Amino acid sequence: MELTIRKADISESQRIKSVLSTTWAETYKGIFSSDVIEKITSDWHSIRNITGQIESNDVIFQVALIGTNLIGLITLYQINSESFQLGRLYVLKEFQREGIGEKLFAKSLLILREKNVKRILVEIEKENRKAIDFYHKIGFFEVGQKSENLFGNNIYLIEMVYNIS
Ligand SMILES: CC(C)(COP(=O)(O)OP(=O)(O)OC[C@H]1O[C@@H](n2cnc3c(N)ncnc32)[C@H](O)[C@@H]1OP(=O)(O)O)[C@@H](O)C(=O)NCCC(=O)NCCS
Repeated sequence: MELTIRKADISESQRIKSVLSTTWAETYKGIFSSDVIEKITSDWHSIRNITGQIESNDVIFQVALIGTNLIGLITLYQINSESFQLGRLYVLKEFQREGIGEKLFAKSLLILREKNVKRILVEIEKENRKAIDFYHKIGFFEVGQKSENLFGNNIYLIEMVYNIS
C-alpha cells in the first residue's frame, strides 16, 4: 500500500499518542526503568501536549501513513531564526528499516529549506545506537555530549547537528 507523509491533524492525536507510547517503551525498555517510561508517557505524550504541538506555528509535525494506518511521525520545533530542534522521530517497529524514517526527515527538510533554516539539532540517549547510526547515515554529525536529569535519573545524551546546504 502507498506511503503518505503529510502534516498531522488534531483529530489524529490519540493515534499519534499510541505510536509514540508504544515505540518509546520498546526503544527505552532496556535503558530506563518502567517508572520513568510511565512518567514520560503520561507527561510528554499527553493528548494536551500533542494537540498543542500540532496547532503550534513553531512546530513542524508530520505523520507517515500506509493506507489509513498511522505508522510514524516526526516533530521539529524552532529554537531561533536559523535553527530547529528535532524532538521526535518515531516509526513503529514492524515498519522500521523500510526507508520511512529517512522519508519523514526528507519531507521536513523541504519545509525547513523554504523557511531558510540553516541547521537541525538533535539529542540522542547514548545507548540508543540504532538512532545514532540512523542520524549518521542521513548526514548528521556529532558535536558534543551532555548529561541531564530525567525524573531523578541521570541520562547521557549525544548532541548531533545537520547543516542545511
Ligand atoms: C531511528 C528510526 C526513526 C529510523 O527509522 P527507519 O524508518 O527504521 O530508518 P530507515 O529505514 O529510513 O533507515 C535509513 C538508514 O539508517 C540506518 N539505520 C536505520 N535503522 C538502523 C538500525 N537499526 N541499525 C543500524 N542502522 C540503521 C541504515 O543505514 C538505514 O539504511 P539501510 O536500511 O539502507 O541500511 C527508527 O528506528 C525508530 O523509530 N526508532 C525508535 C525511536 C527512536 O529511537 N527515535 C530516535 C530518537 S528521537
